[in-house]
Amino acid sequence: MAASCKKEAKANVEPETGSETVKEKAYQGKPITKAFDAKIDSLVAQMTLEEKIGMLHGNTMFATAAAERLGIPELTMADGPLGVREEISKDSWAPAGWDNDFATYYPAGGGVAATWNPELVYQFGYSVGEETIARDKDVLLSPAINIIRTPLGGRTYEYFTEDPFLNKKLTVPFIVGLQENDVAACVKHYAANNQETNRDFVDVQIDERTLREIYLPAFKAAVQEAHAYSFMGAYNKFRGDYLCENDYMLNQVLRDEWGFEGIVISDWAAVHDTKKALENGTDIEMGTPKPFNEFYFADALIEAVKTGKVAESEVDKSVKRILRVMFTLKSIDDKGRAKGSIDTEAHFQDAYNIASESVVLLKNDTNLLPLQLEGVKSVAVIGHNATKKNALGGFGAGVKTKREVTPLEGLKNRLPKDVTINYAEGYQERYSKTEKAKLGDITLNGPVTINELDSKLVEEAVNAAKNSEVAIIFAGSNRDYETEASDRASLDLPFGQEELIEKVLEANPNTIVVFIAGAPFDIKSITEKSHAVIWSWFNGSEGGNALADVLLGKINPSGKLPWTMPAKLEDSPAHATHSFPGDSTVVYKEGILVGYRWFDTKKIEPIFPFGYGLSYTSFELSNLKTDKQEYTESDTIKVEVSVKNSGKLDGKEVVQVYVSKPESKVERAAQELKGFAKKQVASGKEETVTISIPVKELAFYNVETKSWEVERGAYIIKVGNSSRNITSEVTISIQ
Ligand code: BGC
Repeated sequence: MAASCKKEAKANVEPETGSETVKEKAYQGKPITKAFDAKIDSLVAQMTLEEKIGMLHGNTMFATAAAERLGIPELTMADGPLGVREEISKDSWAPAGWDNDFATYYPAGGGVAATWNPELVYQFGYSVGEETIARDKDVLLSPAINIIRTPLGGRTYEYFTEDPFLNKKLTVPFIVGLQENDVAACVKHYAANNQETNRDFVDVQIDERTLREIYLPAFKAAVQEAHAYSFMGAYNKFRGDYLCENDYMLNQVLRDEWGFEGIVISDWAAVHDTKKALENGTDIEMGTPKPFNEFYFADALIEAVKTGKVAESEVDKSVKRILRVMFTLKSIDDKGRAKGSIDTEAHFQDAYNIASESVVLLKNDTNLLPLQLEGVKSVAVIGHNATKKNALGGFGAGVKTKREVTPLEGLKNRLPKDVTINYAEGYQERYSKTEKAKLGDITLNGPVTINELDSKLVEEAVNAAKNSEVAIIFAGSNRDYETEASDRASLDLPFGQEELIEKVLEANPNTIVVFIAGAPFDIKSITEKSHAVIWSWFNGSEGGNALADVLLGKINPSGKLPWTMPAKLEDSPAHATHSFPGDSTVVYKEGILVGYRWFDTKKIEPIFPFGYGLSYTSFELSNLKTDKQEYTESDTIKVEVSVKNSGKLDGKEVVQVYVSKPESKVERAAQELKGFAKKQVASGKEETVTISIPVKELAFYNVETKSWEVERGAYIIKVGNSSRNITSEVTISIQ
């Protein structure tokens, strides 16, 4: 299979500021064009108020109205993070029932982030951009980049990470790749939308420094580096105002401070006030089924303009922004617009490439992995997740796809024909029947899972394990259990899986445990009892093949956790501070200490730390040095380290650079990720990795001066392959 027909990561290669020699790939998007401004002015002058306002609200579930008389088409949109969503009916959430809307199902956010590979993420963006334009959509409602504040978050699987630096390093290439296909990204959900519980009204209170340092960096980079053409305003409130009506967040920060020139689209039914939403920065109101003329930005807006409550110039401002984006996308005059392609072998290959770098090897203490097949006549494949598909499921966007290779199918494809597979379902995915499950209500607020095992299924599983040389059990969760619109109630493995895994491990100690999930679970006891544990994700069309290739050693695992796996829920910051989920208000009491920043500062041992992941080979990091010892604010620190592959297999390692600031005038996390690089190193070879850290990256947000400030003095540069495996450090100073 050939990968999609793009050039090798078509990023501009630009020198980093302040250094002459360091050349690194910098992903830089193309700004919105202003070349058509005169034409736009003349179009707006010819439009009736009704035509203008038709462009400012949903006229179908996923499009605004066209002004055909003037050659202005609809602005068409599609979800979302996992690939281009199937066509939805014009006026309800029901699928439109097309037979030509099959798409590639790409790995979900957690898997994408676990690759720690910006180049792959660029390719993902480019690939899904080709699919978006091939489906004739102008806007893809992606990427979803909210910070993972609690491991219980229903959308953890969709988001990337708990770390703001990793978040922006993945967000930017995705948007750049996507938008190269003449479609707009819609960066969501802006912002501080970190829980599903009460998301429709909860008022999020975050102190300013935490907001700037943790929750906004990826959004800011989406504007200033990637030039994202659209943003999605979130459902919740922030400091008292809904995010689609939030003057501070939309007008002051996003537009005035960051220079955003694109359009703000509301999340579906996130507008609550006509005048406030429009004047405070939302351009387009999208929503869920009701007569489209009843939207706040429809008849009510016409009325507001006619009665002088809202100035027509406010309407014009938004119409002009939308038209600029349309000209940038070549959607008005589509000469030379990208054509794209969808549901192709090349795109399945892209999905495979991401999946194969996302799988995280958590434990392998007796070298059970990669599976050695000499003498193996049969393999037990156990667990409902061996056959579970996740392209669709739960509440929220999925993908209608012709291909989703399950783990069982992957093994059937990849195991030699003379190896017998003994499959046993083991546990079932069951929910309480006492209440009818509403979509999005599976977990925190809704019917609980049934955790009693079926004794017959357990017996089958135990027998399969006993009668096979090796057993692989596929456990974890799925997209019905982890879902938009509700958070999970606990970290427990649902459906009685823990008990089942224990029984299978007793029956056959040569059992490999594979978790497929998008968010942390309590896997402490299972991990202690097992010799081999793998973490995989809702991993796209080729997920099962990629997983089989990892199990069999064709792919050497190189995924790293993009978040901390806590030993218990109470250890994680939002829970330790009793500030989740709040009530009508949620105060982020942990402040800047989100994710590993909390664990490392408070010295709490997680089961697996941020950035963790093993390989089938071994790497040694040595010879850490920086190009200088003293730097000024405009410099770039060049960190150099040797990576030796001291094992028998070729592999990829992610070198991670964390920085600490001892003796600071402000509170600091023990350390923060400030650079990383993924490097392929052949067995027995040693390679040098250079990571550039602009000194400006070391700044904290000074709430008094309302600006970023680099403190002078000593900083410790730490290098390792997880936040808890730092192998060397050097001290530098900033003058
Ligand atoms: C979600 C968005 C999504 C939109 C349209 C909302 O419920 O929060 O992420 O893009 O629906 O499907």
